[in-house]
Amino acid sequence: MSVKIGMIGAGGIARSHLSKLQKIEQATIVSIYDVNRDSAVQAAESVGARAADDVDSLLNPNEIDAVFICTPQFARDDLEERAARKGIHVFVEKPLGLDLETVQRKEKAIAESGIIHSVGYCLRYFDTVLKAKEYLQGRTIHLVQAQRFGTTHPALWWRTQSMSGGHLADAVTHQVDMVRFLAGDYRDVTAQFGSNSIAGVFPDATIADAGAVTFSLKSGAVGTITESCVSPYHGGSEVKFFGPDFFVHLTGNGKTLTIADKEEKVTLTSTQDPSLEQDKAFVEAVATGSREPILCGYADGMQTLAFSLAAHRAAELGSKVTL
Ligand SMILES: NC(=O)c1ccc[n+]([C@@H]2O[C@H](COP(=O)([O-])OP(=O)(O)OC[C@H]3O[C@@H](n4cnc5c(N)ncnc54)[C@H](O)[C@@H]3O)[C@@H](O)[C@H]2O)c1
Repeated sequence: MSVKIGMIGAGGIARSHLSKLQKIEQATIVSIYDVNRDSAVQAAESVGARAADDVDSLLNPNEIDAVFICTPQFARDDLEERAARKGIHVFVEKPLGLDLETVQRKEKAIAESGIIHSVGYCLRYFDTVLKAKEYLQGRTIHLVQAQRFGTTHPALWWRTQSMSGGHLADAVTHQVDMVRFLAGDYRDVTAQFGSNSIAGVFPDATIADAGAVTFSLKSGAVGTITESCVSPYHGGSEVKFFGPDFFVHLTGNGKTLTIADKEEKVTLTSTQDPSLEQDKAFVEAVATGSREPILCGYADGMQTLAFSLAAHRAAELGSKVTL
């Protein structure tokens, strides 16, 4: 079955999905909508699709089977619910939103509709990350250390706290999610965010430039996340899991995995493109009607968002917040 796809948003991540979808035989890109008409037209022309005039004409179940929602988190409105009501399957980018109540409402509507749904936590699709998950199954983790350093996204929305939720919610969310995916749910969080440097880069920025987060997991393991979006001389991400009889280390957003224990020390580097694997899984799920290939559904993505929101609340309160 060919899967007919519409895309809402035609910015950076939408174009990345378009290039992946073009490599998937079963996928046909039908229509693209963006508030910026020129972007929609340009993206549509590049893939032989049509530029839709508005969301209503794009969300037409006679024309598309599935929609990719690639607008920033401040600009999702009720798109997921509108698609779900029409029986249109939904892929939506991370993070799922800016407030939990709205996302919970959407989650309910999506679950009740019975549509296929997938959230853009693409790093879950690395074979190295799946291998780490398998290895950690049944092992006792006592400490987790995650970090991500880099520079800012160029868009104004991204450096505006009320539109992006900040670096932890928008980008470090991949590492927040990797910890959950591999070691289980969070129990509580404390956090501090700083902003010593960001005004020197963007005077209009309202996001923090650094975060120091501590947490415990429901398993009893404790951990930290340190992050900065103003780190031009040292970038990258790592997640480390420590146990009494092993050490698991993921670097490069999960591309490289090292496992050390008394048997051996092995390092594997993935040759996969996790975003392509993610889009293949969604298209396959829509084509077959089976959710099985999807590694992050909407309710799962909502739990990852809940952690970042709780971290910001903990920083405001100056105390621990339980999830
Ligand atoms: N999974 C990942 O690794 C990954 C990577 C990058 C971005 N993202 C996520 O994707 C989303 C978009 O990020 P981006 O980098 O593409 O941003 P971007 O600024 O490059 O593009 C956003 C696009 O959305 C359009 N837009 C804004 N409001 C709209 C609306 N109401 N209706 C239709 N179009 C609208 C803009 O005109 C723009 O073309 C964000 O939520 C971001 O966190 C995910």
